[in-house]
Amino acid sequence: MEVVICDDDREVGHVAAAQIAHVVEDRGPSVVLGVATGSSPMSTYAALAELVDAGRLDLSHAQAFALDEYVGLPKGHPQSYHSFIQRHVVGPLHLNPHRVHVPDGTASDLEQACIDYELAMAAAGGVDVQILGVGSNGHIGFNEPSSSLSSRTRLKTLTRRTREDNQRFFPTLDAVPTHCLTQGLGTILDARSVVLVASGEHKADAVAAIVEGPVTARRPGSVLQFHRFATIVVDEAAASKLELADYYRQVSEAKPLVPTSTS
Ligand code: GLP
Repeated sequence: MEVVICDDDREVGHVAAAQIAHVVEDRGPSVVLGVATGSSPMSTYAALAELVDAGRLDLSHAQAFALDEYVGLPKGHPQSYHSFIQRHVVGPLHLNPHRVHVPDGTASDLEQACIDYELAMAAAGGVDVQILGVGSNGHIGFNEPSSSLSSRTRLKTLTRRTREDNQRFFPTLDAVPTHCLTQGLGTILDARSVVLVASGEHKADAVAAIVEGPVTARRPGSVLQFHRFATIVVDEAAASKLELADYYRQVSEAKPLVPTSTS
């Protein structure tokens, strides 16, 4: 894993966006992006939008696949991930909405919706660069602790902690959905490269666990240690519990950030 420690969340966004822009340059206009929801990638989307607005990045032919979706929220609900992706990704990055996919959490046959999602990703040729945040319990996507490390897109039950973390977007805890559809850890590992972003002290335990802890279903993001091209971009606060922080800084200083090869 390449760990990049930044001064603040704004820099996190710029470093992550530079990595993603490099992949777009490498793969061409029909690049396939994996997009995440949550607060963490907001600075990345803002930095990507700056590149798009400046005419330095064209994503109009890109495809995108979201990581996950709540079960039971109508697509138009303001807190559905479908809405989030429209609002914070499709609009600002000028993506073609017809080329952007989100798991269908309202499908009458959820199991089939998961199979269809995997098939659509395969038909697109797989994800070139997957953007990730991390939950405070170490989940990625909505792969809660105990997730199979080779899981595929499926129905999951959200932990109380995740529902409490996400309660800030809903009027009450009861209003937070109890289930979701999420790409599996095996699905995420299939992406040609991944860029995980995290900022703030409340992410420090999760970041230390997934970067330096054992690979364990207890901390699902730790499975990224198996990925050949995983970049972890964190601010000082999120890096504060990394035992090898000085070493990561030394590596970053010794070589300017080498673009991730996706070939
Ligand atoms: C949700 C999403 C994850 C995200 C996590 C952290 O659980 N499914 O993809 O990484 O929240 O969110 P935040 O970045 O808001 O802390």
